[in-house]
Amino acid sequence: MNREIDFQQKGWGVQLDPLSDLISASSKKGLFKNRNVLRSDYLPNNLPHRWEHIRRLGEILAPSFNNARPSNVFIYGKTGTGKTAVVKHTFKRFNEETVRKNLPLKFIYINCRIAGTEYRVLAELCAAIGQKVPFTGLSKAEVFNRFVSNLSSSNLMVVVCLDEVDMLVKNFGDDLLYELTRVNESLDGGQVAIVGVSNDLMFKEMLDPRVLSSLSEEEIVFHPYTASELVDILSERAALAFNEGAVSQEIIMLCAALAAAEHGDARRALDLLRVAGEVAERAGAQKVEEKHVRVAQGIIERGRVFEALSSLPLHSKLVLLSVVLTMKNGKEITSGTLYAVYKELCELLGMEPLTDRRTSSLLSELNMLGVLDCELVSLGRYGRTRKVFLTLPLDEVVGVFEKDEVLSNMLGYVPTSLKKRNA
Ligand SMILES: Nc1ncnc2c1ncn2[C@@H]1O[C@H](COP(=O)(O)OP(=O)(O)O)[C@@H](O)[C@H]1O
Ligand SMILES: [Mg+2]
Repeated sequence: MNREIDFQQKGWGVQLDPLSDLISASSKKGLFKNRNVLRSDYLPNNLPHRWEHIRRLGEILAPSFNNARPSNVFIYGKTGTGKTAVVKHTFKRFNEETVRKNLPLKFIYINCRIAGTEYRVLAELCAAIGQKVPFTGLSKAEVFNRFVSNLSSSNLMVVVCLDEVDMLVKNFGDDLLYELTRVNESLDGGQVAIVGVSNDLMFKEMLDPRVLSSLSEEEIVFHPYTASELVDILSERAALAFNEGAVSQEIIMLCAALAAAEHGDARRALDLLRVAGEVAERAGAQKVEEKHVRVAQGIIERGRVFEALSSLPLHSKLVLLSVVLTMKNGKEITSGTLYAVYKELCELLGMEPLTDRRTSSLLSELNMLGVLDCELVSLGRYGRTRKVFLTLPLDEVVGVFEKDEVLSNMLGYVPTSLKKRNA
């Protein structure tokens, strides 16, 4: 077939320019006025339905303006309930005031999950009070000492927010929290107050009782938003983000209802609205419609599965990969087969395999995540075994491994233990 005719059939016009319509579309008025407003790191000026929380946190921390150490505060609630936004908002306002009055007082925000290690958290603390520490090379104790001596000599009061502190404690224990909550005892000048924030409601149980009692001198609980609260939050944000007429009240109510049906997560509601807007824009629509929200819902769901699976610890990934390889080879997945394949994979990577019992508990964790289903079946006098089924589509899980630098190489591997059973 003639190429020119082919282009015309595709409706790209005779000028043989497959990009012209895209370029002219980019100069048309789109749906968005300012899409940054819907990004998760955008801090709105107003936080509807969180005035009480802001007020409460403010009241607890306000004594610091009179040079009295405020109580430590422990904040907890599920994700997307506005914890980070409330702390950042309060800290921003208070910091503006300390600068204006030139007070020896600082409100420091650190996200422990992003910092990643105790060392990085300490280094960020030092940086916030003007004390430089190298990226690596010092011991934690040394960095901590530098922080303490700088604080003493500058006679500074710091209020430190450790956001997502549960991630730190899960990985490294509560030593750092312990040190920080008792640091005032050893300070000559300067004082420290802590605002600990956790998304995990069970977090308290991981703490040493002494740490818990000093950290939670005060507590603020954040409850999930209701659908009508989410409508208010989304309406304010939509007015900033979209051009007039691009998003109707019905669409906002739909996004709010879908997010509230899970657990009233404002992040999820905002994501839905943003992705729905992007889907509508790509489809060339004049406004966001219900079908765009439905597509957005699928996109976000797949994104979440991807994120959950890619951030699994290595051994859990290997257990899951064993499931994938067993399935790809058309075998029934029992706990016995799985463990044999898993051991082979560990061997290939030169790693010590975990015990059968530990991998069983990893299987249970994957079950709780909704990745697999396990079913106990009786083998008569041979006892019982667990049969395992993948609950997600196989290619979705394979997709996660394809993006994994190390494990993607193993996707084509045919485990010897499976071959033997074939024969
Ligand atoms: N009351 C609110 N008003 C406006 N936006 C909010 C409100 N609560 C949360 N958000 C927005 O929702 C998203 C998630 O909030 P965030 O504070 O990060 O939740 P958390 O820290 O509890 O997980 C952020 O983009 C935030 O700006
Ligand atoms: Mg947060």
